[in-house]
Amino acid sequence: MPSTIVVGGFFGDEGKGKIVAYLAKNDKPAIAARGGVGPNAGHTVQIGNRKYALSMVPSGFVHENARLLIGAGVLVDVDVLMREMSELNLHKRVGVDWRCAVIEEKHKEIDQKNAELHDKIGTTGTGCGPANADRALRRIKQAKDIAALKDYICDVPLEINSALDDGRNVLIEGTQGLGISLFYGTYPFVTSKDTTASQIAADVGIGPTRVDDVVVVFKSFPTRVGEGPFETELPDEETAKLGIEEFGTVTGRKRRVGVWDSNMARYAAMINGATMIALSGIDRLDASCKGARTYEELSNKVKEFIAKVEDDTGVPVTLISTGPEISEIVDIREEKKCM
Ligand code: IMP
Ligand code: MG
Repeated sequence: MPSTIVVGGFFGDEGKGKIVAYLAKNDKPAIAARGGVGPNAGHTVQIGNRKYALSMVPSGFVHENARLLIGAGVLVDVDVLMREMSELNLHKRVGVDWRCAVIEEKHKEIDQKNAELHDKIGTTGTGCGPANADRALRRIKQAKDIAALKDYICDVPLEINSALDDGRNVLIEGTQGLGISLFYGTYPFVTSKDTTASQIAADVGIGPTRVDDVVVVFKSFPTRVGEGPFETELPDEETAKLGIEEFGTVTGRKRRVGVWDSNMARYAAMINGATMIALSGIDRLDASCKGARTYEELSNKVKEFIAKVEDDTGVPVTLISTGPEISEIVDIREEKKCM
């Protein structure tokens, strides 16, 4: 903080939603903003036994005083946004940048029916790729053109930069991960936009000189949904044996699971300019650490893993998620002088 961007270092689904929700609850930002592609990303937040799967609303909603902003770079699905705002009673807190591009029915149809996109790439079918294509062709509708969004329209860069001018904290949430970045991922098996911290800053309209922290989230066992190369992938039998199978938030699809990828982690830390690393799925690495909240409670196996991650990336590991619930986390930012 004051301005923190959270991004994914592998192929998405690293647990950004959980990390963002924790940071929001703990650091109490004035604004929680969402950058990234659009409703193709599902971020999960669990508070007690309640689980929220968010595709449009920033995961920082858990901090009740935070203004919730959707940056101009983000594609908006009006139905999804309205549904999430209603379910969580967020109508008074959400602002949508007037320049957001809006996904229409035809974009979803193309995404779901086009063989290249659906079968070869394995898109989420949420219309993001076709909408970004129309945006580049300069024939898409913007949020300002949509009557249903009238009450939410705002200028996100203006709000964020003024909050920073006033010395308030801003938490910015990215989507997906390095491996499916349009620029740096495994093209053509990628999403329709860059997913790195610089892109997320641009999405919400803050310049690189105003970004204070970049948290790159990695999961102890990386996963990938959809098609494309995955260097450290494990065979299905192996993941079943280890009990680390996973299913997608948006699509329900089975995720491919692999082991820690040192090279990819190093590269992700570099491109994102990471100042900190958050690790998720630590309870999968060692079930005995489930729910741990202090560094001392972590096993030697986990401590050695943390040391390896720091060695691989040259960046301090400061947040260690030990379970899906928001409070299941070890936060050593202060000890590591990252606060
Ligand atoms: P699209 O972004 O829906 O066009 O999907 C393109 C590729 O990115 C597919 O392989 C998807 O599975 C993957 N993808 C898109 N969004 C996410 C995400 O939030 N998590 C994981 N994979 C994603
Ligand atoms: Mg996800």
